[in-house]
This record gives sequence, structure tokens and C-alpha cells, in this order.
Amino acid sequence: MNERLQGQIALVTGASAGIGRACALALAAEGAEIIATARTQAALQDVVRNIENSGGKARYVAGDLNDNAFLDRLGREAGAVDILVNNAGILTYAPFIDTSLDDIELMVRTNLLAPLRLTHWIAGAMAKRGCGHVIMISSGAARRPVPLGLVYTATKHAIAGMTRVLRMELQDSGLKVTEIAPGSVETGIRDTSTHPQYVAKMQGRSYQLLAPEDVASAVVYAATLPEHCTTHLIEVKPRFGPSS
Ligand SMILES: NC(=O)c1ccc[n+]([C@@H]2O[C@H](COP(=O)([O-])OP(=O)(O)OC[C@H]3O[C@@H](n4cnc5c(N)ncnc54)[C@H](OP(=O)(O)O)[C@@H]3O)[C@@H](O)[C@H]2O)c1
Repeated sequence: MNERLQGQIALVTGASAGIGRACALALAAEGAEIIATARTQAALQDVVRNIENSGGKARYVAGDLNDNAFLDRLGREAGAVDILVNNAGILTYAPFIDTSLDDIELMVRTNLLAPLRLTHWIAGAMAKRGCGHVIMISSGAARRPVPLGLVYTATKHAIAGMTRVLRMELQDSGLKVTEIAPGSVETGIRDTSTHPQYVAKMQGRSYQLLAPEDVASAVVYAATLPEHCTTHLIEVKPRFGPSS
């Protein structure tokens, strides 16, 4: 095991699956103690077991990030973390007018309001201690419009803006703030996207998607830079995917 994050505690949201799971495992492999959160307890237990079997340290806190009482408890209990990876997110592709109002609200709450509220707790505690690293997992949709993804695009543009202002406000308090913007990654996030227009669009796709571990490598890179050095934004793209 590497020692680069030995002694540091990392809170990873959405750690039960996909990119978050890969981030939790990769940060643990660098010696960080992991607090893994998501709703699915069995999957979180599996992540913790995996880390412990490799000689690392981890625990999980299961709950719904759209439940403010849970978020506030998580924020208070995990206040002393050194690294926050705001990763949890959802996405349902469909034309805007075919997207239900419930789906719109759920995407905004999960992708934007939840990380804002959690970051309010954690970054506040980091600023008091004068150190810490907030890492936001945004998306290629933070900079370019994604067809059939109006609400998702809006939430990820907002995350990119939030990340920049958070850095402006807190870098003098000793915080690092980094945005990691992946292109398409092979995870289950698109499983809820069954609209025929989206299904038809996907049939023409031929390039290889990123693996969750590709994104986790960027997170580890950002988290292990020396004290005097930081990175504001890393875009990770499928090599043969859309280049804009
Ligand atoms: N996959 C891609 O192509 C891609 C590309 C760019 C950016 N991203 C971003 O990367 C992040 C992770 O995506 P992914 O592809 O890894 O998705 P994923 O495989 O579907 O995993 C999503 C994670 O978020 C958690 N989550 C969702 N809603 C939650 C809620 N209400 N409360 C607590 N946890 C919740 C899920 O856990 P539970 O279901 O157990 O709660 C799961 O751990 C998202 O922010 C996404 O926008 C993904």
C-alpha cells in the first residue's frame, strides 16, 4: 500500500457504485481512511470489506442525500474529514418536455442541493482548521450542452460555477477545491434512461467509454499533489468519444 494519503480521512458520496466506489477504493489504496456514503447498505458493506481486506480502514454511513436531516447528521459527524469527494449524482436522459417534474426536482436536489448542503458543513469545518480538499465530480455536461440532458446539464454547469466560487472564497483559508469532469463512464447511471429517443441515439455509439477507475485515478492525482501545488479542473475523456 502507498502512504501518500496516510493519516487523511476521505468522505466519498455515492460510494456504493460506479465512480464513487472506484474513488473510495483508490483513495484507500493510497492510505486514506474512507467514510463511504450512499443509500444501499449492502453495497457499502462490500466496499468497506474490500478496503479492510486490503489492509485499509473504512466505515460507511448509509442514508439518502435528499434527506436534509441525514445530510446534516453526516455533515456534523464527518466534519473532520480532510478530503470530501462530492460524487453522488443521478441522470435520466429524455427530452425536457417529456421529463417529469418529479424527475427534474430529484436531479436538482441530488446533483446540486445535496452537494451544496454537505459542502456547507464540511468546507466550513475545513476552513476553521485551515486545511482540506473539496473535490467535485461534475461532468462534460458542466461545459457543453448534452442533448436530452437539459436538467443534468443545468446541474453540472451549476456545480462548475459553485466549484470556482468556493475556491475563490476558501483558498486563503487553506482549502484546495478541484473539479473533475469526466466524459461518459461505464456505470449504471444511464439505466433509468429508457426514452426511445435516447435509446435510438445510443444505438449509434461505437467508442469505448471510460472505466470508473479512470476517473478515480484523476481524483487520486488531485488529492496527492504536494502542499504547494493544486489542480482546479481535470477533464477526463474517452479517447475516441466526442472531442468538444
Ligand atoms: N457515468 C458517467 O458517464 C458520468 C459521466 C460524467 C459524470 N458523472 C458523474 O459521476 C457521478 C457518479 O456517477 P456514476 O456514473 O458513478 O453513477 P452510478 O454508478 O449510478 O452511482 C451513483 C451513486 O450515487 C448514489 N446516489 C444516488 N442518489 C443518491 C441519493 N439520493 N442519496 C445517496 N446516494 C445517492 C448511488 O448510491 P445508492 O443508489 O446506493 O444510494 C451511487 O453510489 C455523478 O455525479 C455523475 O453525474 C458520471
